[in-house]
Amino acid sequence: MTSTEEKATAAATGASATERFRTDKQHTADTSPERVSLLARELLEAVHGIIRKHDVTYPEYDALKAWLIQVGADGEWPLFLDVFVEHVVEEVASATREGSKGTIEGPFYAPGSPEFGAEATLPMRDGEPGTPLVFHGQVRAVDGTPLGGAEVDIWHCDDAGYYAQFAPGLPEWNLRGRITADADGRFRIHTIQPAPYQIPTDGATGALIRSAGWHAWRPAHLHMKVSAAGYQLITTQLYFPGDPHNDDDIASAVKPELMLDPRPAADGHGVDVEYDYVLDPA
Ligand code: DHB
Ligand code: FE
Repeated sequence: MTSTEEKATAAATGASATERFRTDKQHTADTSPERVSLLARELLEAVHGIIRKHDVTYPEYDALKAWLIQVGADGEWPLFLDVFVEHVVEEVASATREGSKGTIEGPFYAPGSPEFGAEATLPMRDGEPGTPLVFHGQVRAVDGTPLGGAEVDIWHCDDAGYYAQFAPGLPEWNLRGRITADADGRFRIHTIQPAPYQIPTDGATGALIRSAGWHAWRPAHLHMKVSAAGYQLITTQLYFPGDPHNDDDIASAVKPELMLDPRPAADGHGVDVEYDYVLDPA
């Protein structure tokens, strides 16, 4: 085991994700008391309905209480919610967009990564393990106009499934960067292929997954936020064909439009993938 594997516990990963959320996100919504009441009442009614339908017992109720307490103690709410709930929020939020498909952000985005020009190698360790990957494409508007100066803010895990800033022992910005497209909206990113990712199994979320007989895998993926002045930002991910978990992603975040078509790289080392983004006007 490497030192990263030894220390990437659910509690440590969860604590980092919780801290990140508190720092980066707005924690309030402009929601009226009527709407809060409606949403809270229907959520509770759904829970009451399940208890009646399945004759939930006192031991089961107490096991649920203990589990909810432990999710909080492990700091795992950002991980749990992004795996099991965020995909439906994204579906509703993006329903009227015409351009490229988005999908969940997940808990491991870090704003403010290093900035690069249109062709860049992501920050990585000397001899970073993994298959070299060249990822290139163009950012356009829905009417086909190339969006010069668009930004591709990319982040992904390493060849062992670990994200910088959420697993120990990795350089701060490993495999994270912001690429500014050229005047024709084109970009070219040199990196390595990410590994499939297993959500931490030693915390409360892992305990649920084990107790239910589920698996903890997400297929290998690249994350990115693509933006241009005057256009709607899209948060999305791209996937690799043939991954055993493309069809049963625990986070339900795979869409057919987000599947890459990797080709052998021209120089014979690793793979080359092309993907174009289409943004809706703001
Ligand atoms: C989680 C991790 C990811 O890498 C991701 O893309 C989505 C969710 C998680 O552990 O919750
Ligand atoms: Fe991820």
